[in-house]
Amino acid sequence: MKIKTFDDFLQYASQHNIETAIVRCDLNIPSDIQDYSRIEAIKDTVLAASKLVKRIVLISHYKRPTAGLREDKYSLSRVLEPIKTTINKDVTFVPQDIYDINSLPDAEIILLENLRFYEGETKNDIHFAEQIAKFGDVYINDGFSVSHRAHASVEAITRLLPSFAGISLTNTIQELEKIIQKIERPYTAIIGGSKVSTKIDALRQLSKISDNLVIGGAMANVFLAAQGKNMQKSMVEKDLIEEAKKIIQGSKSNIVLPIDFMCSDSITKEGVLYDEVPESQACFDIGEKSVSKICSILQESKTIMWNGAIGAFEFANFNGSSVAVSTKISELSSVTRVIGGGETVASIPSHLKDRVGFICTAGGAFLEYIAGYKLPGIEALAQGL
Ligand code: 3PG
Repeated sequence: MKIKTFDDFLQYASQHNIETAIVRCDLNIPSDIQDYSRIEAIKDTVLAASKLVKRIVLISHYKRPTAGLREDKYSLSRVLEPIKTTINKDVTFVPQDIYDINSLPDAEIILLENLRFYEGETKNDIHFAEQIAKFGDVYINDGFSVSHRAHASVEAITRLLPSFAGISLTNTIQELEKIIQKIERPYTAIIGGSKVSTKIDALRQLSKISDNLVIGGAMANVFLAAQGKNMQKSMVEKDLIEEAKKIIQGSKSNIVLPIDFMCSDSITKEGVLYDEVPESQACFDIGEKSVSKICSILQESKTIMWNGAIGAFEFANFNGSSVAVSTKISELSSVTRVIGGGETVASIPSHLKDRVGFICTAGGAFLEYIAGYKLPGIEALAQGL
């Protein structure tokens, strides 16, 4: 699949007189932590495109508002200041209903209001896409992290305007393709996080294509329960135990589960190491034996993919595995390493972040792409106008 990259946009722009470029970003940034990496991601595209076009219109969704209700807490005005500071440019916010905008202000960079205020967005409605498309001459998608959604501003719009990938999206695809086109083996996939339910399809898929599938985080509890372990008070999605059994039985990959646990009766208290979770306690991190097993598997791997936190890293008593696994990955500089997901990235100590390989801030889109699924927003950049 050949997508139209940012280089193709540069060539197109040199041959056509483009007044306005619409740039689809993912400004769905966490509200609790000041993580502006998704804004950082669009900076290069915005700066490069602004040299070639008169005006840039930034479009995005923010969280999951109920369409039709324009609640303030979901307004993209919240990210206006962070955008200005991060890209170091003035940005004009246009809060009006997009059906009421007759002409855009005379500004270099414009930000429209949350597209999920309109039901046409998540319905991938072509008429809603037309409404957005009328604001520009070309469309650039630089929001890899939303490209798994077949939404109007991601998919339908590419049928209406010449469409290209932004710089960050182009780079992300190039990096991720390294572990899709030709996987250097052994390939170790580490999947963590709290809920199996959000990653079940990817787990099934990775159990067929990876050589080692390391499962951590609270989702490991479901697999351990499927093997008959009593996880006591630990979080277990009981309705997925049967599904976990099927994955274990059908797996072509070596499934690696924790063999010891850091436990406590409260996440705010200190943890104690056990081989079995004691009665009335829960596990909040994997133990030292599990970590050293994972590290020796990583040592033998030629490709490493990691998505999802392995322990409750936000609590200093339970971040041991995150620190140890990040450190190990940082030492394997000759190995192809890709890490994805906001929480996963947050679990890596900051001094290691530039040493652990390619980091992708996308969560769902990252995992779907790595697991081999086709993302509507990426397919559209190969097939669209
Ligand atoms: C994300 O944060 O994964 C993207 O912005 C997509 O958001 P969504 O899961 O609400 O569609």
